[in-house]
Amino acid sequence: MSYAKVKQNQSSNEDAYKTTVARIERIHSQLANAPRGLRLKDKVCIITGVGSMKGIGRAAAIRFAHEGAKHLYLLDYDPTNLPNLEATIVEKYPDVKVTTLQADAADEKAISGLCNRALREEGRLDVFFANAGVPTRDHLDDISAENFMNTMRVNTLSCFLAIKYASLAMRKTDPSRGKETSGGSIILTASTAGLRSGAGPVDYSASKAAVNSLAQTSTYQLQKTDIRINSICPGLIETGMTTVTFEYARQRGTAGKIGQLNPLRRFGIPEEIANAAVFLASDDSSYVNGQNIAVDGGLSASLPVVPGKWA
Ligand SMILES: NC(=O)c1ccc[n+]([C@@H]2O[C@H](COP(=O)([O-])OP(=O)(O)OC[C@H]3O[C@@H](n4cnc5c(N)ncnc54)[C@H](O)[C@@H]3O)[C@@H](O)[C@H]2O)c1
Repeated sequence: MSYAKVKQNQSSNEDAYKTTVARIERIHSQLANAPRGLRLKDKVCIITGVGSMKGIGRAAAIRFAHEGAKHLYLLDYDPTNLPNLEATIVEKYPDVKVTTLQADAADEKAISGLCNRALREEGRLDVFFANAGVPTRDHLDDISAENFMNTMRVNTLSCFLAIKYASLAMRKTDPSRGKETSGGSIILTASTAGLRSGAGPVDYSASKAAVNSLAQTSTYQLQKTDIRINSICPGLIETGMTTVTFEYARQRGTAGKIGQLNPLRRFGIPEEIANAAVFLASDDSSYVNGQNIAVDGGLSASLPVVPGKWA
C-alpha cells in the first residue's frame, strides 16, 4: 500500500472515531436529560450481572430505576461495586427500593431463593433480566471439556434457572398486594455470537445460541400464563468484558476501526442495550414474545460485505 493511501486510511480511522465519540456523547446527553418515565411503575424486578462499573447490568439497573421500578433486586458474583450501584440509585431515585446480593447467577438455590424472596417481600415478581455472563477467548483446540461446561454453566444454566424460577413466581397471584393475574417478562442476554458464527469462540457462541433457543422454546411451555420471554443479542458493546479490546485498539491508534463491520459503523454502549431491556420489561412490548432481538447496529442483518462496494 502506498504511503499516501496509508495516511488516508489513518485519517479516515481518526475521523470515524471522532464521529463515533460525538454520537455517543449525544446519546449520553439525551439520556441524562430525559424526563423520568413510568414505564416500569410498580414493577418488581431482578437483574443479574450488575457488578461491573461499565456493564450492561449496571446501566439497566439505572434505566429501570429511571422508569419508576418499585423494587430492584440486583445480583452479582463479584460484590466490589454493589454498594456504589445501590448508593447511585438511592441518591438519584429515592422512591426505588434497592436490594443487592452477592451470589452466583448459576446457583439454583440462590436463584430460587431470590425469586421466593421477591414474592415474600413484595407479593410479586414482574421482571427477571438474566444478564450475567462470561466471555471466553480460546481457540477450539485449547478449550477443555471442563472449560466448555463452565461457559455453559454461567451463560446458559443461569438463564435456564431464571426462566424456571422466575416463571413459577410470576404465575403466583396475590390480589391483596395488587397481583391479580399471572404474568411477567423474562429477558435473557444472549449475543450476536448466538445468532451467527464469526462473533466469538465456539464455547461462548454455543452457550449464547442455547440462550436464544431457551427464549424461543420456553414461551411454548408457558402458554396462557402471560409470561413473555425474549433474548437480547448485543453486538460489540464497550463494557468491562470488552475493555481489553478497546484499550488495546486505543493504544495502537486503531480505535476508529472498532465496530466498522456494522452499517452504523460504530460500537455500542451499555445504555443502548439497557434501553432494549426497558422496552422488553415494560408493557410497551406486551405482544413481543419468544424473540431473539439483535441490538447490534445492523451487524447480524447482513451477509459479509466489502465495505464501500455495495453500500
Ligand atoms: N460487551 C459486549 O460486547 C457483549 C456482547 C454480546 C453479549 N454480551 C453479554 O452481555 C452480558 C453482560 O456483559 P457485559 O458486557 O456487561 O460485561 P461485564 O463484564 O461488564 O459485566 C458482566 C457482569 O456479570 C458478572 N458475572 C459473571 N459471572 C457471574 C455469575 N456466575 N453470577 C453472577 N454474576 C456474574 C460479572 O461479575 C460482571 O459484573 C453478558 O451475558 C455478556 O455475555 C456482551
